[in-house]
Amino acid sequence: MSLSDNTSELNSLPTLFFLEGPKFPSFDFKISPSNQSKSFKIKNQTIYLYPDNNDNNELFMNDDDHAVKTANNVWDASLILSKFLEKQCNENKLDFKGRKVIELGAGKSIPSLTSSILGASMVTITDAPIVIPEIEKIIKLNGFENNNVLAKPLDWENRKDYVPFLIDKGPWDFILAADVVWVDYLIVPLVDSIDELSTPSYTTLLLCHQSRTTRSDNMLFDTLKKRGWKIQKVSRDELNLEEGFWKDNVDIYQGQKEQE
Ligand SMILES: C[S@@+](CC[C@H](N)C(=O)[O-])C[C@H]1O[C@@H](n2cnc3c(N)ncnc32)[C@H](O)[C@@H]1O
Repeated sequence: MSLSDNTSELNSLPTLFFLEGPKFPSFDFKISPSNQSKSFKIKNQTIYLYPDNNDNNELFMNDDDHAVKTANNVWDASLILSKFLEKQCNENKLDFKGRKVIELGAGKSIPSLTSSILGASMVTITDAPIVIPEIEKIIKLNGFENNNVLAKPLDWENRKDYVPFLIDKGPWDFILAADVVWVDYLIVPLVDSIDELSTPSYTTLLLCHQSRTTRSDNMLFDTLKKRGWKIQKVSRDELNLEEGFWKDNVDIYQGQKEQE
């Protein structure tokens, strides 16, 4: 087999299998009276992802789109971002009370649920359309359906069907995104989505990014810069280090788009 044959074979393998394993595998997200010490809590409120009688079922595994299969897992970045938000609100450095929050590529949606616990008045959780029924189940499981927490589809590659409705629900105070950069072809559509949903000099982007290649990091931050975003890396000291919520290659970036 020639080198080029090998390369095309590698390129066709689902990127999912190259993703690094989690740092925080020890949390139990099932409703169960016996798991309280292993549960994930924000402001002492436990976040559940599965009913007691349900093992962590693998959804979307038959879906052809490997990108969407990543919605099956809780990625470290989502826990690091959630614990960062909790700490920032505790220290009055951020205020989510009465704010409108939208999350992109939310998967198991933990930063969104965290935002609701921290007092956000409206939380819209978005992901690819196939993931939305699962997110609706998570909202119900946590009893958040009356807290103005909604699941809405947003496919970054097919935005025109979804973005106008989401812009209408704004302006958004915060756009959250955790571990949404792992394949290069989604970077520009993702940044386009962030850009279209934001109001310049108003919306704050909080992006928890796991760095995987220098090439995709450059592509991400160059594209944001070209669109007029001023983004800063949050100092590691601001993360929830006391409880161990950090990881070597994961950082939080915060910024706003400048008024044109
Ligand atoms: C690595 S996972 C991160 C999930 C979650 N934010 C977390 O940190 O646990 C990437 C997420 O992007 C979503 N995604 C993939 N392709 C997408 C697309 N074209 N439009 C919107 N979301 C997409 C997946 O469904 C998945 O939820």
